Amino acid sequence: MHFKDDQDTLRRILNTVEESGHIKDLDALLDRVLLDARHLTRADAGSIFLVENNVLNFRNIHNDTLFTTPSNKYIYSSHTLEINNQSLAGYAANTGESVVLDDVYQIPAHMPFSFNPSFDEASGYRTRSMLVVPLKTSRGKIVGVLQIINALNDQKKVITFTDRDRLVLNYFAVHAAAAIERAMMTREIILRMIKMCELRDPHETGAHANRVAAYAAEIYQQWALSKGIAPEEIKRMRDLIRVAAMLHDLGKIAISDLILKKPGKLDPEEYQIMKRHTIYGARLFENATSELDALGAEIALNHHERWDGQGYPGHLEDISAGNLTLGPGKRGQEIPLAGRIVALADIYDALVSKRAYKEPFPEAQALDLIRENSGQIFDPEVVAAFFAIYDIIGAIREKYAEAPSHSQFCWITP
Ligand SMILES: [Fe+2]
Ligand SMILES: [Fe+2]
Repeated sequence: MHFKDDQDTLRRILNTVEESGHIKDLDALLDRVLLDARHLTRADAGSIFLVENNVLNFRNIHNDTLFTTPSNKYIYSSHTLEINNQSLAGYAANTGESVVLDDVYQIPAHMPFSFNPSFDEASGYRTRSMLVVPLKTSRGKIVGVLQIINALNDQKKVITFTDRDRLVLNYFAVHAAAAIERAMMTREIILRMIKMCELRDPHETGAHANRVAAYAAEIYQQWALSKGIAPEEIKRMRDLIRVAAMLHDLGKIAISDLILKKPGKLDPEEYQIMKRHTIYGARLFENATSELDALGAEIALNHHERWDGQGYPGHLEDISAGNLTLGPGKRGQEIPLAGRIVALADIYDALVSKRAYKEPFPEAQALDLIRENSGQIFDPEVVAAFFAIYDIIGAIREKYAEAPSHSQFCWITP
């Protein structure tokens, strides 16, 4: 063990603690935690689970050997483990103990857990050494489990994890757990705000908000990659969009039940009132003190603008003014990017979802509609980004389905 190595390690842990305070979104934070945990132990792969509703939910996977480009598709796959001693992650969550294994295919018979080889079988990967650490806060609450896989030496050969790795990762996990607990609370509060909205407008479900926000984050990332935007900036904006887009329709809270719950079509006057949810939403973020608030306001205000200028609410001098008249729609690049992205994410989701007044559109028809309206309702570049990541869009739909999905396929090593 070298003094300099330890200094670097400590610095990295402190950096994570410091920087994770700036990350708003839970998924962005988990990605960062997994990356730092792997760097600290020089590991090729890893996955992360969170304790939610008394089970372990798979939340992210890294694998440098298998995924050469960021593979966001897999982070949306659903997989759940019981919290008991049968699986490795279950054992760590159940007992609060970490586990070091030199070869997962040679687990001593007296150990209560076994290794599930289904991921290796499906992918051709060979999991060998593993370090499983519970994400335990300093108050002893277990929020999840980190599974770090295949430590590598300088020649990129798989080696075993050391006692030092275990110590370092346990220390790191305490700080990571605190940050994760905070981020889980933030998402919980946002979902509760959306629940309040849902009581008024049954279309605005937590699942819809999660889907729209995840679509928007992924579309943004694809758009930004095609523009050559710096990776750090992409990560930062993606994180902000993932949170802010969840709140796109929060302004509906201020619209009368008579309009929100009207079974038939709105008459022109009612429709004019309904349009104001964009302004009410933006007002909730007034006096924006953070970038997140500012983006929340921007998305709420602009998610019904259209690329051809036929959307609403248009140009407004002062969104807090008493009697506002909606102006002519903003057009093209006048509409902030996040508004253009959420417009597509929101309309796509509304089209393919079942609503009280309509059956879902068949997928192909919804896609045709998006293509046809590229350059009219939608920004053509945003449409291009949407189609470029269409496989991820599908994975998100499944992950945040209205009823829990029963995906059998497992992309992780339990
Ligand atoms: Fe809306
Ligand atoms: Fe919506």
